[in-house]
Amino acid sequence: MRVCIIGLGYIGFPTACIIADAGHEVVGVDVNRDLISKLKNGGLHIVNENGLADLANRAIESGHLTVSEKPEPADVFIIAVPTPFKVSGAYTAAVRPDGFDKAALEVAATYENPIADLTCVEDATQSIVPFVKKGDLIILESTVPPGTTADVVCRILEHGSKLRSVDELFVVHAPERVLPGKIVHELIHNDRIVGGVTPEATQAGVAFYQTFVQGEVIGTDSSTAELVKLMENTFRDVNIALANEFAIICERLGINAFEAIKLANRHPRVNFLSPGPGVGGHCIAIDPYFVIQAAPQESQLIGLARQINSAMPNHVMQLFEELVDEAKAAGRIVNA
Ligand SMILES: NC(=O)c1ccc[n+]([C@@H]2O[C@H](COP(=O)([O-])OP(=O)(O)OC[C@H]3O[C@@H](n4cnc5c(N)ncnc54)[C@H](O)[C@@H]3O)[C@@H](O)[C@H]2O)c1
Repeated sequence: MRVCIIGLGYIGFPTACIIADAGHEVVGVDVNRDLISKLKNGGLHIVNENGLADLANRAIESGHLTVSEKPEPADVFIIAVPTPFKVSGAYTAAVRPDGFDKAALEVAATYENPIADLTCVEDATQSIVPFVKKGDLIILESTVPPGTTADVVCRILEHGSKLRSVDELFVVHAPERVLPGKIVHELIHNDRIVGGVTPEATQAGVAFYQTFVQGEVIGTDSSTAELVKLMENTFRDVNIALANEFAIICERLGINAFEAIKLANRHPRVNFLSPGPGVGGHCIAIDPYFVIQAAPQESQLIGLARQINSAMPNHVMQLFEELVDEAKAAGRIVNA
């Protein structure tokens, strides 16, 4: 199959290499000219990823992977562009296109929740419109709020190509759940969720991922697939918030939080993550906001967890300053 991958970052580039290595003809596309020119000159923009350099060399030398600044016609298009968040004054309008909801606004204001910035997804989708033909499979891998594949991606594709996403195109969401450092291994071996906007799209998406994924490829609908990805990272965020809350409780009670958590985790069905100033990676601190954006009134615990975790860097700095003051008072630190 001919595959066109839009966005050659931490997700898109290793994915392009793996798909090319599986025998597909892949063109990798990125708007970053320096990145494309580096790749064309034999360089690599992602380092410290086990196995990626060998895989990339093999894919490029075999001629199965080429790179370009512009999309090309293909049978499969994969969009793997960034989805950061943005702070928006138009929060409620974005959340509730059907009308003003005061309660939703109050929840948003209380927790100062940002919303997803879908500009890159919209631009990337727009960029493939001239090349999409009847029967093509279009995959959104970027992490997005529930409904984005069916609403945003399908709307742009249908408007531009005049093809119907219900019976002329196969449109799916296939979220990523890789660990930096182990991306190549996990892209091949992790189970994958593939959610189509129609059952036929799901079937086409599952069949495609089965050509290079060794884990189980599980089909569902696109909104469920979008939410599943957000649930995974939200689970970790809320778990860390609970660990952080216990860490603060332990400070109040004069108990060592790390010792208490280590002992609690000896219970066979308890698994606290570690308290601390950060929640790890860039996804966990962003993805819960996409859930809150979709259902602000119903996301009370998720919003509170974000609030607790966001306050931790300041709290840890305060503890650090107290330690420094104590050390200075005891003469263990002398001002330079
Ligand atoms: N990195 C991870 O560990 C990870 C894990 C799971 C999910 N995700 C999700 O995957 C998506 C991609 O993340 P990433 O880490 O690969 O991002 P990244 O920033 O590493 O790479 C994205 C690439 O897309 C390019 N790009 C942006 N707009 C474009 C356009 N219109 N056309 C072509 N190229 C364009 C950028 O130049 C960049 O090279 C995000 O939604 C992210 O949340 C990432």
